Amino acid sequence: MNPVEIELNGVASGRDVLHFVDAILVGEHNVVANLANVSSVLNLYLPVINWVGFYVTEARTRDLVLGPYAGKPACTRIPLGRGVVGTAAERQQTLLVGNVMEFPGHIACDAESRSEIVVPVCVDGHTVAVIDVDSPEFNRFGPSEQELLQDIALRLSVAWSEMTWY
Ligand code: SME
Repeated sequence: MNPVEIELNGVASGRDVLHFVDAILVGEHNVVANLANVSSVLNLYLPVINWVGFYVTEARTRDLVLGPYAGKPACTRIPLGRGVVGTAAERQQTLLVGNVMEFPGHIACDAESRSEIVVPVCVDGHTVAVIDVDSPEFNRFGPSEQELLQDIALRLSVAWSEMTWY
């Protein structure tokens, strides 16, 4: 997928997002390039967010390490089971947090964040990455964002083993 095409066509609906994600994954096999463009598409599509991107599981430590994203600089390494990211990764479950201040162990990378959704990408029973989106608004995320992000996570999990890092 040519980024110029994304800009020209716009990203108007969740179906457009999935179309772009499919095109990104068909067109390129590099993990960093693909996660970077998926972050960009989500950043163009989702209103009222202040961070969107990926944490990727490090094989040796099982830490979630900062991957491609759009937003301010963020925490680079989150242990499995810690914060919203590490908890979603450990449970292999989507976490919707309406008020991050009420989530025990929430890691505040950006003081403006008020709500968050984290969706794991699982391959063969292992969490290989998570999609993380933050908003400066309370209760920003609901079933439509959950469904869209889970659809993207499923596409990534199918493509994951065919992708390369370098
Ligand atoms: N808030 C996350 C940390 C990552 S940032 O939001 C980018 C957490 O509690 O795991």
